[in-house]
Amino acid sequence: MPQCCINPSILSADFVNLEAELQRISNADSVHVDVMDNHFVPNLTIGLPVVQRIQAVSPVPLDAHLMISDADRWAPEYADAGIASVTFHAEASIAPVKLARELRARGSKAGMALRPATPVEPYLDMLPELDMLLIMTVEPGFGGQSFLDLTLPKIRRARAAIDGSGVGVALQVDGGITEETILRAAEAGANVFVAGSAVYGAADPAGAIDRLRKAGSL
Ligand code: DX5
Ligand code: ZN
Repeated sequence: MPQCCINPSILSADFVNLEAELQRISNADSVHVDVMDNHFVPNLTIGLPVVQRIQAVSPVPLDAHLMISDADRWAPEYADAGIASVTFHAEASIAPVKLARELRARGSKAGMALRPATPVEPYLDMLPELDMLLIMTVEPGFGGQSFLDLTLPKIRRARAAIDGSGVGVALQVDGGITEETILRAAEAGANVFVAGSAVYGAADPAGAIDRLRKAGSL
């Protein structure tokens, strides 16, 4: 199993003090930045200009999770801005293979996300085009929701396909990850864990990252 990465989501951080909030998680592997457009999901966060400023001051690379419609149009702009990893939703892309290639060609890692109800099977052939597959473990849109155990079989099937194909795709989970649920996701095969409220809701976010990393290491 590849190394366990913890990517805190700043959705649960104090948006007025983002620079200081980023310094509190400098032991993270990446920082997960949730972009929402109030169309693909019923919530609105930030767009590219703010993401670029976060990148400029972040002590760790960015993992941008784009919960936006018309990903084919907008995701390449995040790659052009030099964001290390750009994840679009399969449900929001008309041509996901083309889009993943475009992200890589522009210098970003290419990630693709699936909502809890979206099956993984139709996308297994495109694993070689991806650096990361994100299986949502809550309905995208809001932090602080409970982990959906019904996603575990899909994580297991994705892990089997990744291992079977021999490609080095990271398997990320996002939503409801805590010191309690992380082990279930890890045992199912996830190796990159997004945690918002479990990190920023803790008195010591850096300590929470260490505890999650320990709890998620098999
Ligand atoms: C939800 C976002 C998540 C969110 C996770 O749509 O994609 O990244 O911040 O928050 P927690 O860890 O609190 O479930
Ligand atoms: Zn996210």
